[in-house]
Amino acid sequence: MPARPSPRRAWRAAGVQVRSAVAATVLLGLLVVAGSGLGLLVLRDSLYEAVEASGSVQARLVRLSVTGELLRAGPERTDDDAREALDRAVGADDDRGSLVQVVRQDDVVVAASRDVAGLGPLSDARPRVAEVAQERREEPALGPGRWFATTLGAAADDEYYRVVVLQRGTSAESTLRTATAIVAVAAPALLVAVAAATWVFVGRSLRPVEAIRRTVEGIGAGHLDGRVPVPDGRDAVARLAETMNAMLARLEASQRAQRRFVADASHELRSPVATLRAAAEVWADHPGTSSPEEFAALVEDESARLEHLVADLLVLARADEGRLASVRGDVDLDELVGAEAARLRATTALAVRVAAAPARVHGDAAQLARVLRNLTDNAARHARGAVALGVRAEGGQGGMAVLEVADDGPGVPAAERARVFDRFVRLEEARGRGSGGTGLGLAIVAELVAAHGGTVEVDDAPGGGALFRVRLPVPPTGSPADAAQPPSAASR
Ligand SMILES: Nc1ncnc2c1ncn2[C@@H]1O[C@H](COP(=O)(O)OP(=O)(O)O)[C@@H](O)[C@H]1O
Ligand SMILES: [Mg+2]
Repeated sequence: MPARPSPRRAWRAAGVQVRSAVAATVLLGLLVVAGSGLGLLVLRDSLYEAVEASGSVQARLVRLSVTGELLRAGPERTDDDAREALDRAVGADDDRGSLVQVVRQDDVVVAASRDVAGLGPLSDARPRVAEVAQERREEPALGPGRWFATTLGAAADDEYYRVVVLQRGTSAESTLRTATAIVAVAAPALLVAVAAATWVFVGRSLRPVEAIRRTVEGIGAGHLDGRVPVPDGRDAVARLAETMNAMLARLEASQRAQRRFVADASHELRSPVATLRAAAEVWADHPGTSSPEEFAALVEDESARLEHLVADLLVLARADEGRLASVRGDVDLDELVGAEAARLRATTALAVRVAAAPARVHGDAAQLARVLRNLTDNAARHARGAVALGVRAEGGQGGMAVLEVADDGPGVPAAERARVFDRFVRLEEARGRGSGGTGLGLAIVAELVAAHGGTVEVDDAPGGGALFRVRLPVPPTGSPADAAQPPSAASR
């Protein structure tokens, strides 16, 4: 048996367009019902009050015509002048639907409009002199609908009498009926219009969202070059579209970088493998062409190249995953530089100058040694005769440790200074020297330095060669070794 959806869930499932239209219509409907109900009530009261006010004016007009003589004599026997005046007053409103009686203290009706001639008093109210009593009631004998009885207390020659004016509410009631009919027609029309307008308006506002959705749906993993349409205006939808396009651009750029990396890596891996294979083939076909020693040396060289390359690729892969610089401790840069200078002196004929002030940073000693090794390898390869290594502190407490590796070689042209840190970038003239580098050394330096929260740049050495400068943050002294976590590796 299917579970009955809860009303709440059904409301959510209805979607924003339906919900907006329903909410706007219901809200407006409540307002219209309350507002028009109140309006009609106020209108009815003021119409009824107007009827009653005219009733009391009429009663007062009639009182002006009544004399004591008329009261004493009764209907048939008054003098002509008084009779006429009274008839005029009483009869004047016949055509307006008002019925008038003049009633004596003893309930004898001394004058009356034609339509109520011969009837007894139309009201039992006996207000005091000059006061008015009003009633609303049914008078089926006289006609349908609501009737308004106004009774005015009066006196002539010390005799009490009352003037009764009976009015029909017809005109007030027909006005009310008209007003009610207008409301009854206009309100639903208004509600329908508002529901439709809300539906259309919300639908139109959602259209760009749907367009964005459709575009994103069409953007597959294979082609990230699509962009979603950005609607006019600066609303949330436009910002969403802009943000989404920015994200697509980043994804596309990183996808392109990944593909290029894989292509470059395969390319670099292919040449040592091809060399090994060719050597093996030659060796098998013409065993006499090279000595076993030569063959072994070639295999060793090429496999060393492969090993280096694979190791470098591994470092970069770890950098891309943000898994560099995981082992941390205090590292004395001046000691690293001392050891590296000793190595250079032992393995090269270069003049090696060292200017190392004590500088302790927090990081992975092996990785920082790798940074220094990659830089000195480059310097040694490009130098004409001298290499200079330096360490100094910059900016005092909590400042930076600066590590510099300079040589007297050709230097790095200003236009290439950003590019040399990219993966697989070897400058043209360097390629020709067959130095065997793969263009990953500086890319690895950049990743490792970034993983330690530092920066690296290339500059002109005072002697004209290249000067690579690495800045690493120095943890504030006294802080525990593991407290200062530098920002995670920023991928380049
Ligand atoms: N000390 C230097 N002097 C001049 N050019 C340099 C120096 N260091 C690096 N470069 C240039 O930067 C390029 C990239 O260096 P690197 O990433 O270490 O790759 P590789 O050493 O494998 O060529 C080198 O090919 C070279 O052209
Ligand atoms: Mg190198």
